[in-house]
Amino acid sequence: MIKHFTLTLKKAYRHRAMSNKTQSSTFQTKVCKVDPTSIHFDGKDQLTISDTQTETYLEEAAQLLSTTSNVVAFPTETVYGLGGNSFNDESIKNIYKAKNRPSDNPLISHISTPSQILEFFDVEIPEIYKPLISNFWPGPLTILIPNVPGSKLSQYTTAGQDTVAVRLPSHPIARALIHLANCPIAAPSANASTRPSPTLASHVFHDLQGRIPMILDGDGAKVGVESTVVDGLSSPPMLLRPGGVSLEQIREFGGELWKDVVIAKKLSDDSLEPVKTPGMKYKHYSPTAKVVLVKNEDSIGEYLKEHELTDSKLALLTCENFKGEGFKGIVQSLGNTKPEISANLFKALRHLDEELSVDLIFIEEVGLSDEGLAIMNRLQKAASENI
Ligand code: TXA
Ligand code: MG
Repeated sequence: MIKHFTLTLKKAYRHRAMSNKTQSSTFQTKVCKVDPTSIHFDGKDQLTISDTQTETYLEEAAQLLSTTSNVVAFPTETVYGLGGNSFNDESIKNIYKAKNRPSDNPLISHISTPSQILEFFDVEIPEIYKPLISNFWPGPLTILIPNVPGSKLSQYTTAGQDTVAVRLPSHPIARALIHLANCPIAAPSANASTRPSPTLASHVFHDLQGRIPMILDGDGAKVGVESTVVDGLSSPPMLLRPGGVSLEQIREFGGELWKDVVIAKKLSDDSLEPVKTPGMKYKHYSPTAKVVLVKNEDSIGEYLKEHELTDSKLALLTCENFKGEGFKGIVQSLGNTKPEISANLFKALRHLDEELSVDLIFIEEVGLSDEGLAIMNRLQKAASENI
């Protein structure tokens, strides 16, 4: 049976044209090159910055966050974040506005040292997190702590949840920015809502140009997928979003209580259980091109025979096993190991979509162990078909 893509493609082109049109320009977005290697924290969390330009830009960004309600995009080791002051209602509203993000999806607050959990949120670190914190912070792990009444947090940061998501990133620019601003920085990924997360400053510029005043450009985000979100307040503890720290690592290094960690139900399960993490229910990571996730390389040929795609620009992203031999289109490798695949995934999707205007992207599936769980979680959300 021949299935016709003409309609889908027309829709895709319209989407492409519209997403440019709806961007209202309010700011002259400044892209500021900063050098992560010039930043040093000593054992007592004292900060020194050896490069003057980096110091000037970081001071300026910190001022924007601590004294105004403006937002700033900055690099983290996972993806670029769009930061606002977690205590400031207007700043948080500006994040939602710039990204066009639904306001019932709460934000992660970023800190630069664990003692800020008590200082900023009036909460002692719950015991269950201590082994995770000592093994994975600074790094790509987000924990949920109680949201105590009377704390200074904006209600918009937590979107009415009774918990606060907190992360201590390892990227020197992120840590220095939080340290200088001296407030928790709420930051979702710095993409326009539903688009793939940005791993380069140029991705942020593409999506948010004219909508934010400043982007700190501190090179590529090395992990490439977002942080792992865990809830140790529920029993058994839960993995809410797979990410830069794997389920295996949590089980291995989290201590006794994390051995029983369960993966939160996906919304696609037909259950009445409320969604534990609001981000789950939203479409995500989607390039304008159609994405088809492929288990077996031979099924690509069959798929192409079945569908009339004569005018379509095709691409194939290979991972551990596919060869791409004879494929009529762009063939690109995401890498041979899972860390490489995770680091390259969003960058490759954006490149094919935004620079090469590909219509259909086939992607090789990976196994679910280690980084595979986070990679497949992103791929399933990007894909509209599995073959
Ligand atoms: O790596 C990352 O986590 C990046 C960088 C910038 O730090 N940030 C990021 O933020 O990915 P965002 O907003 O794109 O994703 C945050 C996720 C969402 O799925 C949200 O629903 C969930 O964390 N979340 C935030 N607060 C929560 C809470 N109190 N309870 C449950 N889930 C929460
Ligand atoms: Mg995001």
